[in-house]
Amino acid sequence: MKTKLIHFENLNSTSEYAKTLEFDARIARVIIAELQAEGKGREGKEFVSDRGGLYFSIVIDEEAVPFNLPLVTQLAAAAVYEAFKDFNIAVSVKWPNDIILNQKKLAGILVESESRGSKIRIIAGIGINLNNDVQNVENATSLKCEGFSVAAGDLLQGVVRRFIGFYNKLKTGDTEEILDIVKQNSYILNKEVLVYKEGDILPALAKDISPEGGLIVEYKNGKSEIIYSGGVRICPKEDVPDRE
Ligand code: BTN
Repeated sequence: MKTKLIHFENLNSTSEYAKTLEFDARIARVIIAELQAEGKGREGKEFVSDRGGLYFSIVIDEEAVPFNLPLVTQLAAAAVYEAFKDFNIAVSVKWPNDIILNQKKLAGILVESESRGSKIRIIAGIGINLNNDVQNVENATSLKCEGFSVAAGDLLQGVVRRFIGFYNKLKTGDTEEILDIVKQNSYILNKEVLVYKEGDILPALAKDISPEGGLIVEYKNGKSEIIYSGGVRICPKEDVPDRE
């Protein structure tokens, strides 16, 4: 699939802009902005997007819903992971959508979809803290803060190339490589987590990623559940009740 880059100095949000484009299933479009006035994160949170970071949305239009959408978030995470690997930067993937470096958030992913009749638009928004200062953002870091320097254009190219490659595989039903990457480089698997669910906070063990991209957790009573979006926090060990 061909890709077209559309670059802006300044946008409210690359993902919001993506929603205004004409439908075109022939190409993937990549909307990039140097800064975003209203960068969007998951669950309605803000994604601080000051100059110096890399903010872009990959837009793919399909004639019909091609597969399970939570997998696209895992696909994007695998693409970001592999792109950093090219620069010998070992990040990890915190399900569902964070990229972690030295225990802090380096990048975030927000995958959205929009139905247009029987057609669908997939918008994979990716924000990477490169040379921006993130002192005011809780638990965040940037490559600069961690002492790395990478050309934004090279990193962008690496992510987009991987994303399209994995996307083409996913369309044929081949999820093996994507799932291997996010499992083997996971920040969350085999850790005690808290599941925030319907007003309850339930301690559990993060056991695996399901074939559809959900997180498989095991509760203290031995029951398992697959969680498809948010609501899971990694819990510091000392706060976790004993799992007898
Ligand atoms: C998160 O961490 O909760 C997801 C953050 C996603 C941020 C990216 S930056 C490019 C795209 N445009 C947005 O407004 N958000 C995404």
